[in-house]
Amino acid sequence: MFILSFIIAYLIGSISFSYLMTKKIKKVDIRKYGSGNAGATNTLRVLGVGPAICVLLLDVLKGVIAILLAKAMHLDPWAVAVTGLFAIIGHNFPVFFGFKGGKGVATTIGVFAMLSFLPTLIAGIVAIAVILITRFVSLGSLILIILTPIISWWFKNLPLSYIYVDALIALLAVWQHRTNIKRLIRGEENKLGQKGA
Ligand code: G3P
Repeated sequence: MFILSFIIAYLIGSISFSYLMTKKIKKVDIRKYGSGNAGATNTLRVLGVGPAICVLLLDVLKGVIAILLAKAMHLDPWAVAVTGLFAIIGHNFPVFFGFKGGKGVATTIGVFAMLSFLPTLIAGIVAIAVILITRFVSLGSLILIILTPIISWWFKNLPLSYIYVDALIALLAVWQHRTNIKRLIRGEENKLGQKGA
């Protein structure tokens, strides 16, 4: 049963809304513009605020649906959390788009919010503050994703399986942001609102 949940979550995650929207509106492949990432931040650069918010919400929804599906199937906590991981893997390596997708931030937010709402909310507030101050979306994303498992662990009222899988998701996010991290260290990272970023 859990295998089916993982496969469905992966397929849902593989629907690249940023790719579909830029293809539909501008007839271009988002992966060839801006940062080359198929995600909401790059949709902001390529299409603007409205489409970027749509992509953000739809990508978050993929994570939410994956967890709802796993819970509806009455899977154990480990399988529920791993189903979320599979939705993120689908987003990052989509079977429908040559396995070249995004960095998984929005889908991770959907998964984290469903697994550990309060820690995600707290980490989200910190992340938004960091983005507003520094204008580095990647830095805010990384802080949100790394902070959520730490706060979840500190709360001590969540299944350990959730915290371990959240930590694994955080490691995946760090790997996906490796070029952003190098740019941040070099002081060359794209800032929100920066032209041609
Ligand atoms: O949503 C991913 C974000 O953290 C960074 O995106 O396009 O600036 O690499 P980008």
